Amino acid sequence: MFEGISPAPPDAILGLTEAFKKDPSPHKINLGVGVYKDDSGSTPILHCVKEAEQRLAQEETTKTYLPITGSPEYGRLVQRLLFGEDHEAVMSGRVRTAHTPGGTAGLRVGGDTIRLLAPAARIWLSKPTWGNHKGVFAASGFEMSEYPYYNSENQQVDFEAMREALRKVPAGDAVLLHVCCHNPTGVDLSAEHWKEVTAIAKECGWIPFLDFAYQGFGEEIEADAASLQAFLNAGLEFFVASSFSKNFGLYCERAGAITLVARNSEAADSAFSHMKTVIRRNYSNPPAHGGAIVTTILQNGKLRSLWLDELAGMRDRIRSMRSAFVTGLQERGVDRDFSYIERQRGMFSFSGLRDDQVERLRAEKSIYIVKGGRINVAGITTKNIDFLCDALVEILS
Ligand code: LMR
Repeated sequence: MFEGISPAPPDAILGLTEAFKKDPSPHKINLGVGVYKDDSGSTPILHCVKEAEQRLAQEETTKTYLPITGSPEYGRLVQRLLFGEDHEAVMSGRVRTAHTPGGTAGLRVGGDTIRLLAPAARIWLSKPTWGNHKGVFAASGFEMSEYPYYNSENQQVDFEAMREALRKVPAGDAVLLHVCCHNPTGVDLSAEHWKEVTAIAKECGWIPFLDFAYQGFGEEIEADAASLQAFLNAGLEFFVASSFSKNFGLYCERAGAITLVARNSEAADSAFSHMKTVIRRNYSNPPAHGGAIVTTILQNGKLRSLWLDELAGMRDRIRSMRSAFVTGLQERGVDRDFSYIERQRGMFSFSGLRDDQVERLRAEKSIYIVKGGRINVAGITTKNIDFLCDALVEILS
């Protein structure tokens, strides 16, 4: 059955890492996949994680299955990170969370649940969006449409066009929105924009589906989650797929979540029972270790504040690399204003590089950037920045 099958194309993001690993160049730089690097170019295990793991090694007593939706305590802690301590929505039991293997599985479980409960729903994605959104939602069986998001002329959100498009989304469809650190553009909605988006969702009756993979990479964790309050205040029912891959550096542990918010606890219970069915059919129940690490850290005041310090350190380093990158290009006399890179938020910068330039950077300089021009700023270090800036100047001239 396998003879004569042509191979599938490599993944647009993870496929780059595979190619990068094979590249023998001593100067190679991977600015593709969204993984944090410290200034030595490594992806460290956070100290709070190491300490939590040591405790777990001593204290864990079983490796039996978790419940289908994961540990209830993990779910409770996720809800508090999303919505704050003791929010009415959480306290009244109309919020339910399942631990999923990463944010990607959160998206898939949320998508499958929508398809199960509303088979005619289509999903609307921002243009552009994370490369894997289309794949995940196609696998859920969705028809997909796009709404305008980014204006490449002024490197800002094209809110006029987005608003017009969202007003035309039919009731019952789902709209995928990036809560912060929009992937791939790094350009976010303002508080005013969010107010309008929630008002439109309410008026039109579409289902907000929020992707929240970078909490703490734009600003502090509460500030990055601020827009979620607008959805709660508008009395909407919605989904949030969230991830601890980036903000706890737990990439390989697959610690993510899908949270649903309903109007009351009975509706939440029913919807969650269907979500359980979806999970049982997909992967049965989640892997425990990453969730146990997050739980251990968030339950302990000392480890929690160590985590927040380490998260701030990652955020600050990325910001300083944004500035150094812009300065490096200016100093080399590049005939183009790249200052918008400093205003973008999170790991990514939509560089404005064309696909042929991205291709040349890879072929001639061993610099790996995602097609479309998305740069992982967290991959820039004080050691590789000169080589990177020199290479860009050469490609742009
Ligand atoms: C990215 O966008 O690079 C990350 O979210 C990693 C991934 O799975 O694509």
